Amino acid sequence: MRIAVVTGASSGLGREFVRRLGAEGGLDEIWAVARRKDRLDALEALSPVPVRPLPMDLTRPESLEALSALLNREQPEIRVLVCAAGFGRIGQSRSISAADNSAMIDLNCRAAVDVTSAALPYLHSGSRILEICSTAAFQPMPGLNVYAATKAFLQSYTKALHHELLASGIHVTAVCPYWIRDTEFIPLAQKADPGGFRHFPLASRAGTVVRWALLDSRLNLWVSTPGPVCAVHRLAAKFIPHALMVPLLDLLRRV
Ligand SMILES: NC(=O)c1ccc[n+]([C@@H]2O[C@H](COP(=O)([O-])OP(=O)(O)OC[C@H]3O[C@@H](n4cnc5c(N)ncnc54)[C@H](OP(=O)(O)O)[C@@H]3O)[C@@H](O)[C@H]2O)c1
Repeated sequence: MRIAVVTGASSGLGREFVRRLGAEGGLDEIWAVARRKDRLDALEALSPVPVRPLPMDLTRPESLEALSALLNREQPEIRVLVCAAGFGRIGQSRSISAADNSAMIDLNCRAAVDVTSAALPYLHSGSRILEICSTAAFQPMPGLNVYAATKAFLQSYTKALHHELLASGIHVTAVCPYWIRDTEFIPLAQKADPGGFRHFPLASRAGTVVRWALLDSRLNLWVSTPGPVCAVHRLAAKFIPHALMVPLLDLLRRV
């Protein structure tokens, strides 16, 4: 059985990945992971490929155990793994609760690594892994501190994994989008501090990001910058010293 596994499938990028992977075909099932079961059930209507809803909270260890047990029982061939489950909190570090910080680290870092590790035995030559990071991974970000640090971790993990799996023909890509306006991420991130980022100029759309990301993963790029703003951001972070880049980003979020 040839499958795709998509985490964070109940909304935003994950949902769009399910839609596009379903339309591309070549799969027997898409396994869709997130907490909201009703949203996962509704995915069936979006995809010509059958969608198996796997409602689970990836911050709970028993969820990973259940996913591993299911993989062991079904022995599928995973053609595509997308780790899109993630969330952020905007605000100064002193205004973000310890619980939110732990949950971000747990979901954005530990869960992504655990899901990927559980999937690895079922990936073969030509299979693809897409870890959804962020342009926040490119440098530290005041006002989005812990979130940016989690994405830097995930980008680093993904780049090393790309190298490790190169010889086996498995493509691994760190997808680094800039702000996306038509997902639930920004309203949820603004809960703690609605004015922390005043504007989200040139924000992109989920459809555009997913189209670029899938193309870049086919090309086996180790980092995908899905859109011109992300590409410019990546270049700037590479060549402008972080000692200048960090205060510059702090200034931009206030205007
Ligand atoms: N939107 C942006 O501006 C932006 C920019 C750069 C990077 N990103 C990254 O893109 C990825 C997708 O975000 P999005 O924009 O599509 O946001 P979204 O619409 O909020 O989607 C987040 C997904 O993660 C799932 N999720 C959250 N907590 C979970 C948990 N504990 N266990 C399992 N699933 C969980 C949510 O489903 P349930 O609530 O049903 O569990 C939802 O499906 C994230 O990793 C985010 O960091 C987003």
